[in-house]
Amino acid sequence: LPGYYAGPLRPQVHYSPPQGFMNDPNGMFIDVDGLYHLYYQFNPTGLVAGNVHWGHATSEDLYTWTNQKIALFPDRPGEQIFSGSAVLDPNNTSGFFPNQTNGVVAIYTLSTGSGQEQVQEIAYSYDNGYTFTKYAGNPVISAGAKEFRDPKAFWHEETESWVVLVAFSQEFVISIYTSPNLIDWTFASNFSNAGLIGLQYECPNLLQMPMEGSHEPMWLLYISINPGAPYGGSIGEYFPGHFNGTHFTAVDAVARIADFGKDNYAAQFFYGIPANENQISIAWASNWQYTNNVPTDSENFRSVMSLPRYNYLTNATRIGYQLVSVPYNIESIFEAQLVSNDSLGNGTVFVDYSSIESGALYFEANVTGLSDMASLQGSVNFTFSSSVSGESVRGGTDLLSGTTWVDRGETRGFDNPYFTDKFSNSAVYDGSGLWRISGVIDRSIIEVFVNGGEESATNTFYPNSPLDTMALSARGINATADVAVAVWSLRSTWA
Ligand code: FRU
Repeated sequence: LPGYYAGPLRPQVHYSPPQGFMNDPNGMFIDVDGLYHLYYQFNPTGLVAGNVHWGHATSEDLYTWTNQKIALFPDRPGEQIFSGSAVLDPNNTSGFFPNQTNGVVAIYTLSTGSGQEQVQEIAYSYDNGYTFTKYAGNPVISAGAKEFRDPKAFWHEETESWVVLVAFSQEFVISIYTSPNLIDWTFASNFSNAGLIGLQYECPNLLQMPMEGSHEPMWLLYISINPGAPYGGSIGEYFPGHFNGTHFTAVDAVARIADFGKDNYAAQFFYGIPANENQISIAWASNWQYTNNVPTDSENFRSVMSLPRYNYLTNATRIGYQLVSVPYNIESIFEAQLVSNDSLGNGTVFVDYSSIESGALYFEANVTGLSDMASLQGSVNFTFSSSVSGESVRGGTDLLSGTTWVDRGETRGFDNPYFTDKFSNSAVYDGSGLWRISGVIDRSIIEVFVNGGEESATNTFYPNSPLDTMALSARGINATADVAVAVWSLRSTWA
């Protein structure tokens, strides 16, 4: 499918489908040649959710994507291929791959033609994940349930067994099954009614994460909640904990929310990254409350993915375990440095970026030289505005309260009661001498990061005229501190 990637609302460094409607990332795995495969919930025939297939794209660097042919199609009228995951089966545990060590198995939910049942099916690929054959003995897991979906599978080294998590969405249960061969699954345990439940559990992930300051990675269960999230609609939450191959136990009863924006849902983590390395995730950058109505239909697509994110766990001041999430290797798409100032003081920099073809920027402001709590004063604020219409997206961080905010309300291309404007969240100073804010803005999406990703906010926005002017300013910063700012243009990875 061809795509037109030049429209004014079309992000230039984020993945978006060539045309049609996209939701969750699916089946993310790294093939034997190191190529990243991203599949996604895809309606190729409409601009709203439905008629779901698995779209497919590949990338060497997670920014420059090649759209591939649709990887999984429904077979019968009314059927849909819902979310799921993919693994490599190098030892041919499944028996599908007698002649190769690079076999790929996808496990997904089939929503049956009547819509009355959701079952888990598998399909195998001899060609690194470009084409799949559905297993003749499908389904491999069925429970006679209507809301039973989103299998995420992985190989568990210690027990030499496959593990899959599946959500009984409306019962708030994540069921764990094990298998020697990806075909015959045995129920192992339930993780249920934990954290925020909203009205559904969806898209579970379970994987090991590096823990800062420790040699031992830690397990992390990630669950997406929709509808009924506290910000409205869809969010992700996570539970650090322990997993023995059959049972997951969270370290505590705390509900930890992954992102304080409104457009970060159904995150999935790549299969195939060693446990002691930072894990890479991609989320769907939208929200079920309004995704079918956003104005990008005028450009013949709806929805984009978040930036690829590097993830690890840290021990944060006061609150303990925290998932840190920052753009993966963003330097690799830096184009030109537009601002470089290590000593902005209480100043402002303006950037006219109307001539930057991508319209995409990376920015950071690091308040340096902080010492005790008394030195935590002032704020750093940013505004991206349109010199044509005056529309803007703004945000900032306040050092004393530790609060960071984003406001997308001054854009006028989309009017919807659920498309709320303003977001904020607080973090605690860690005594490092630094307070940092950074972000990526890309035509119709902004991702903001506090203190290197300890907090993040992903928000889409829809201006009538492209934003083209940036102001970055510091006010009331303590005399003993200073502010270092840098702004880079990003090269379009779709050009
Ligand atoms: C999450 C979700 C999944 C489901 C898919 C359908 O956004 O509702 O639970 O598999 O989308 O497209």
